[in-house]
Amino acid sequence: MAAALPVCWLNGAFLPLAEARISPLDRGFLFADAVYEVLPVYGGRPFLFVEHMARLERSLGEIRMSSPLTRPAWATLLTELVARNGGGDMYLYVQVSRGAEEGRNHALDRALAPTVFLMAAPLAPLDPTVRDAGVSAVTLPDQRWGRCDIKSTALLANVLAKSVAADRGATEAILLADGHLREGSSSSVLVVRGGRLFAPPYGAEILPGTTRDLAIRLCARAGITVEVAPIREAALRAADEILLGFATRGILAVTRLDGAAVGDGRPGPVARRLQELFAAHRAELAGTPLLPAD
Ligand code: PDD
Repeated sequence: MAAALPVCWLNGAFLPLAEARISPLDRGFLFADAVYEVLPVYGGRPFLFVEHMARLERSLGEIRMSSPLTRPAWATLLTELVARNGGGDMYLYVQVSRGAEEGRNHALDRALAPTVFLMAAPLAPLDPTVRDAGVSAVTLPDQRWGRCDIKSTALLANVLAKSVAADRGATEAILLADGHLREGSSSSVLVVRGGRLFAPPYGAEILPGTTRDLAIRLCARAGITVEVAPIREAALRAADEILLGFATRGILAVTRLDGAAVGDGRPGPVARRLQELFAAHRAELAGTPLLPAD
């Protein structure tokens, strides 16, 4: 994992990341009382800005907070952070915590000034060997909490699942519950069978994914049938293709699941088509404004 870029933004000021400090009484630190977003940036332009901001606002609303900045103010801030870090391709991390108190209180007894932290990190182009070979994944039981639709920084179960996957030589842990597919530890999971794309329905169990939503829109536009329906473990294991979707990598093909080949063991036609469609979409958006004009 590459080191973060040098300039961050913390509570109203740009500063060197190495000098950024927060209180240990911050509720983000004590309780993971915080939400976050990760946005890719291509050619200096944050990708799917509106979608990420809509999800951030929703996550904040679900934890009884409101966005500390308007969308135009976020757009200006993100653009400035990208520029201060040299532009080009990178990804942005945005975290809003409920703020620091004078002690440790579970109860939310008063409004605090939120802690707002943004940093940038390099986004290396996808290694062609990985794109051509796909990645391996393992299945694990989903041990997370009941509100995985909130993009909360309480990621301990995700972190542990990812570590088990790494111990087994896999890139991702695909989480299962009640005999059904949920999502990856840090990705949405889509399944292809008979040329159709299947996605599990949204609910409290999974995060609404910006990459998954775009993949579905691009498939629909390209004439690939999409079905949103519960996916049984057996259907996952019998899939022709399994796709991971996440902001920092777009679409990646899973070619081995628990050591067994997925389909013919190589990235399939839908994965490859979606990777092309994503690249074309990124090119289409280059130079366009982040926010629609009023
Ligand atoms: N993770 N599901 C989970 C649990 C995730 O953590 C992510 C993204 C996704 C995909 O969402 P999107 O397509 O909007 O990135 C689904 C980010 C990349 C992270 O935590 O770093």
